Parts: sequence; C-alpha cells; structure tokens
Amino acid sequence: MKIITLPVVDSTNDFLKNYIRDQNAESFIIVRAIEQTHGKGQMGNLWLSENDKNLTFSFLLKNPVIKIEDQFIITALTSIAVAESLKELNIENLSIKWPNDIMIGNKKTAGILIEILYKSNNEYDVIVGIGLNVNQHLFPNLPHATSLAIETQKEFDLETVMKVIVQKMMDLMQKSNPENHLHFLHLYNQMLFKINKPAAFKNSDGTTFMGIIKEVSSDGKIHILNKNDQIESFSNKEIAFLISH
Ligand code: BTN
Repeated sequence: MKIITLPVVDSTNDFLKNYIRDQNAESFIIVRAIEQTHGKGQMGNLWLSENDKNLTFSFLLKNPVIKIEDQFIITALTSIAVAESLKELNIENLSIKWPNDIMIGNKKTAGILIEILYKSNNEYDVIVGIGLNVNQHLFPNLPHATSLAIETQKEFDLETVMKVIVQKMMDLMQKSNPENHLHFLHLYNQMLFKINKPAAFKNSDGTTFMGIIKEVSSDGKIHILNKNDQIESFSNKEIAFLISH
C-alpha cells in the first residue's frame, strides 16, 4: 500500500485529484491528512475533524471494471468495507445510513465522499474519501456525531484502522463482478439504518413526512413505503433524513 501522509492539506480528495493528473499513480494509492483545513462533505458541506485524532484520507480506484451506470455499487462496497472493518475492531450497533454514512446506534461515525473523474473511452477513475471519527471525544454542536473512542472507551491507532479499511475495500473490489453485484447490494441492504422501521424525511421542497424504508435499489434510489401504503423511490438529492448531524 502506498501511503502519502500530509501534515496539512485543504482536502485529501482534492490533493489526490491533482496528484493523479501529474503522476501515473497506482490504484489504491492513499493520501492521508493529519490536519485537513477544508474537508469536503456531501452536498457541499464541510467535514470538520479534530487534528490528529481522526482519519481523513482518500484513495484511488483506477479504471474500475464496474460499468459507469452501475456506479452505486462503489458506494455500497465502500460503505460495506468501512462497516465490516469496524465490526472487526469489535464495534457494535453498526449500520449504513443511506447512501453512505456509517452509524453507531443513532450517531454518525464516518462519512464517505465519492468523486468520479471521467476520462475518454468510457473509462473513469474514482476518488474515495473517508472521514472516520476515531479518537475525538467531544463534538461541540454536533449532537449526532460519535467516534470509536466514545463508543468503546478505547484509543485506536489511526494508520492501523485505515489499512484495515483499505485492505477490505481492495478485497471487495477484487471479488466484485457483474454477477455478484446483487449479492453486495443485499449485504448493503442488510446493514441499512432504519430498514423496515418508521423514519422521518424531508423532501427537496422542505415537506416532512414519515415512511418506512424497504430497500435501496441498484441505481442507488431509496424505496420508502408511505402512509398510503405506496412505495415511492427517491434519489439522494430528492430527500434527506430528518435527523441531522
Ligand atoms: C459526508 O458528508 O458525510 C462525507 C464526508 C467525507 C469527508 C472525507 S475526509 C477525507 C476526504 N477528503 C475530503 O475533503 N472529504 C473526504
């Protein structure tokens, strides 16, 4: 595993994006920041992380064999890789909050930002960015955030945890082929936060509603049973969970 550790960087995703433009980088090259000054979250949010307490890193998936229209499988595999790695570290009550937040109980411990870089000939690269709260103990103004240390009363070695996650992702990517995508989607659904339980949502016009999550399909849409007993499906931009983090 090639690891580039940077004392300070704006965003490991952006650094890796620029790096691979200039270098012939290998797949799974990792960029980790001790301090990230402008960590990017989903939906244009900022990802805040206490220096040297948590993992903020990105790695490259070079020319994945997964068809671009099946790209949700990359989100699913990354979420499974993080969740299963944490399970190996004896973390309990893990789940994946659609599309790719890793939860312990009702609180978020990791976020994932996947960026697709399109190339010619239908090829593409993927930057997978992971922010995992590991040894941070206080999250002022973030009542729905937690860390491995808070949940276990233990401290973890950051690089060891990171290597477990990246190795798991390498194994999953190696195993994945179009025939077993449904198997991995099933694994993802089995770990889904609030599956088959009532949950509150807000749609893009701000309306809130209750529904029951039934599944996430291979196109990444979430299927929710509404109060009229009908299944409605939503993409990530159309709907959000009402719990904030
Ligand atoms: C989210 O909003 O949940 C996604 C957060 C992703 C944060 C990670 S930290 C390492 C990598 N570099 C970034 O700028 N963002 C991702």
